[in-house]
Amino acid sequence: MAGHFRQQLPYGTQQFPNRPQFSGFMKPCRFEGEVQNLEVVGKIPNEIDGTFYRVMPDPQMVPFIENDPWFNGDGNVSAFRIQSGKCHFKQKYVRTEKFVREREAQRALLGKYRNKYTDAVEFKIRTTANTNVVYFNGRLLACKEDAPPYALHPETLDTIGLEDFDGQLPSLTFTAHPKVDPVTKEFVCFGYEAKGDGTPDVCYFTIAPDGKFLETVWLVSPVVAMIHDFAVTDNWVLFPLIPQTCDIERLKAGGEHWQWNPDIPFYIGVLPRRGAKGTDVKWFRAPNAFPGHTANAYETPDGNIIFDLPVNEKNVFFWWPDKDGNAPDPTSGEIKADFLRFTIDPRASDLDLAKPEILSREDCEFVRIDDRFATKKHSHCFFDIMDPKLETNFPAIAPVMGGGHAPYNALGHIDIETRVVQKYFPGPTHLCQEPVFIPRSTTAAEGDGYLMALVNNYATMASELHIVDTRNFGEACAIIYLPIRLRAGLHGNWVDSQDLALSG
Ligand SMILES: [Fe+2]
Repeated sequence: MAGHFRQQLPYGTQQFPNRPQFSGFMKPCRFEGEVQNLEVVGKIPNEIDGTFYRVMPDPQMVPFIENDPWFNGDGNVSAFRIQSGKCHFKQKYVRTEKFVREREAQRALLGKYRNKYTDAVEFKIRTTANTNVVYFNGRLLACKEDAPPYALHPETLDTIGLEDFDGQLPSLTFTAHPKVDPVTKEFVCFGYEAKGDGTPDVCYFTIAPDGKFLETVWLVSPVVAMIHDFAVTDNWVLFPLIPQTCDIERLKAGGEHWQWNPDIPFYIGVLPRRGAKGTDVKWFRAPNAFPGHTANAYETPDGNIIFDLPVNEKNVFFWWPDKDGNAPDPTSGEIKADFLRFTIDPRASDLDLAKPEILSREDCEFVRIDDRFATKKHSHCFFDIMDPKLETNFPAIAPVMGGGHAPYNALGHIDIETRVVQKYFPGPTHLCQEPVFIPRSTTAAEGDGYLMALVNNYATMASELHIVDTRNFGEACAIIYLPIRLRAGLHGNWVDSQDLALSG
C-alpha cells in the first residue's frame, strides 16, 4: 500500500499541488455561472444556430493524490449557445456522487485515477463524468468510460441523474465516445471492463432513437486494455485497443490502473454490427502502437473496411509508464502521431494487418469529420495540429502553459482525395482545444461549413472561441472572447437548434 500513500497530501488541504497539471493555464477553473452576449470580434454567421457543448476535468476540491493526472478532475460542462450572431455562455459541474459527497465533506474523498482501493470512502459510482458530452434522445450525457453516463438537462445543464436507459444498460461501464448513425439515428455504444475493474469483458450495444435497446453482445478482449474510442461502419464495429493494460492485483496494492505494455500488438477487434455473437469478433493485429481518437470507418464496394485514425509509436500517456518505469519524455518531441489509414478485410483468416497507408505526417489529434458522413465514406477530416514550424512563441508561453496534456498550435483540414492539409493558426500565444465541425446547411456538401474550437490565449490567460469558415480556412470569421480561463477540456459536440427542439 506504500505506493500511493507516499504521494498523498493531507486531507482537506486548500492548495493545489505545485505540479504542471495544476499550474498556469491548467490551474483548475472551478467556475459555475453564465455570461450573456459574449464579446465578439468579426461576425458570427447567421446560419450558425445551436449549442456547442464541451466538458473539462476540473477538480472541485484539491485532490489528496499529489500527482493526480489532470483528467481525474470533476466534469465541468460548458455550453456556448449561438443564435442570430450572438453567443451566450453557461457552465455547470455535473452533480456526480463524487462531486456531491466531496462538497458535503469539503474535501477530496476520491483517490487515484480509476483505483477505488485508494478512496477515502466507499462510492457506489466513483466516475467524474468528465470526458465527453453527447446529446441523445433529449438528454445531454456526460460520459467517462468507467461508469454509466450522467444525464443533464440540455438547457439548464442541471444534473438529472445517472443514466441507466430505463434499466436497460447491461454494462457497468459506458464509452465516452458513442456514435450516432446519421441515417438510422441509432446510438452505437460499448463498455469495456464491463463486468468491473480488471475484467476483459466488453459489452457492445445499440439503442434506437426512442431509447429502446436493439443489440447487446458480450465479447472478451485478448488483454485487459484501454478501449477509449471506436469506429462504426454500416455493417461492422471496430475496437482499437490502446496497449495500456490493467491488473486487478496492482489496483488492490494501491497502484495505477494502467501500465504501458510494449510487448503486445496494437489490436483492432472487428465485430458484425448486427446479429452478432461475442465469438464472432476477430482481433486483428498491428505492431505495438498507441491509437488516438478515430476519424471514421466505412466499407468499400469490395467489402473491405477503411479505418482512419492518428497513431503514435510511443506511449502518449507517459505518466503511466511500462513495468520497468520507462516512458517517453513529453518535452522531447518523440510523442508524435501520423494520420493512418488501415484497410481491413473482415473475412480474412490472417489476422496480421497489412501496413497502413500514411494519410498525413502532420502531428495531429482530436480528429473530427462532418458527422453527417459518419459510417460512410468521408473525404474531409479536421484536427488539432502541432507544427513546430508555425510561429508559436513557446519561450513566452512556456512559463504559464502548465502541463500534463499535449499542446496543439493550429487547426487542420485535410482533403483526403488530394491529401492537401490547410492550416488555421490562431496566433503566437495561442493553443487549440478539440474542434467541432458545423455544416453550412443540412444540404451543404461534405466539409462545407465552419470549424469551431476553444483556444487558450496565454497572453491574456483567457479563453476564446474561434470560428473558421472552411471556404476561407486561413483566418477566423469570428473570435468570441470569454472573460475567464477554461483549462484543457477533453471533448465536445455541436448540437443544432433544430435537433434540440425536435426531441425536446
Ligand atoms: Fe477521448
